[in-house]
Amino acid sequence: MAGESRSPRLPVAEATTGRRIGPILITRNLQIDDWPAFWPLLRAMGTDDDEGTAEARYGRLLGDPAWGILGALDGGRLVGYAAVQDYGTHLRIGDLHRMARLHDLYVDPVARGQGVGRALMSAVEGWASGRVRYVVWQARRGTSAGFYERLGYRGEAVPQPDYLTFTLEGRR
Ligand SMILES: CC(C)(COP(=O)(O)OP(=O)(O)OC[C@H]1O[C@@H](n2cnc3c(N)ncnc32)[C@H](O)[C@@H]1OP(=O)(O)O)[C@@H](O)C(=O)NCCC(=O)NCCS
Repeated sequence: MAGESRSPRLPVAEATTGRRIGPILITRNLQIDDWPAFWPLLRAMGTDDDEGTAEARYGRLLGDPAWGILGALDGGRLVGYAAVQDYGTHLRIGDLHRMARLHDLYVDPVARGQGVGRALMSAVEGWASGRVRYVVWQARRGTSAGFYERLGYRGEAVPQPDYLTFTLEGRR
């Protein structure tokens, strides 16, 4: 993806709508047909499953409204994804503190450092807005935690010394 004419920060489309506001990078909900391009990213992020097992689950979760599986496409090529899950209504307090977890954020190594991760986090914020109050996730100190801090999120120490917990408070 590091084309010679490419500007260092790619123009980005808005949230999960798929609406293109720049000529190069868009984010949108992934679809069944994205599987062949998605599988290498999922495998690189880490799964012990064979492709058939992973694909069947992908298809099931795409149809589950609790899940957001968001992709970033550079000139039509899938270069990253985010996966987030709405934990739903609480038995006692309803939707007051409704929470989602960011399970995965992954950018193809050749596409890193060009704003793709930032665009995906913007898509996650768009997905969360109006749906949940909080999105939480953990990130390892010294690796990805610095990325989230660079974007302005603040991590808190947790019992696991190597990790920070981040919380994004959205609008409901
Ligand atoms: C972490 C990751 C998603 C970042 O994606 P990316 O597309 O390279 O990030 P961006 O280009 O959007 O970077 C946005 C900003 O964060 C900075 N940044 C990126 N990675 C960083 C890191 N590890 N530490 C500190 N800053 C970082 C960039 O320099 C950029 O800063 P700028 O706005 O001043 O230019 C990517 O490196 C990745 O997929 N890593 C492997 C999987 C992973 O660790 N996922 C997170 C699991 S919690």
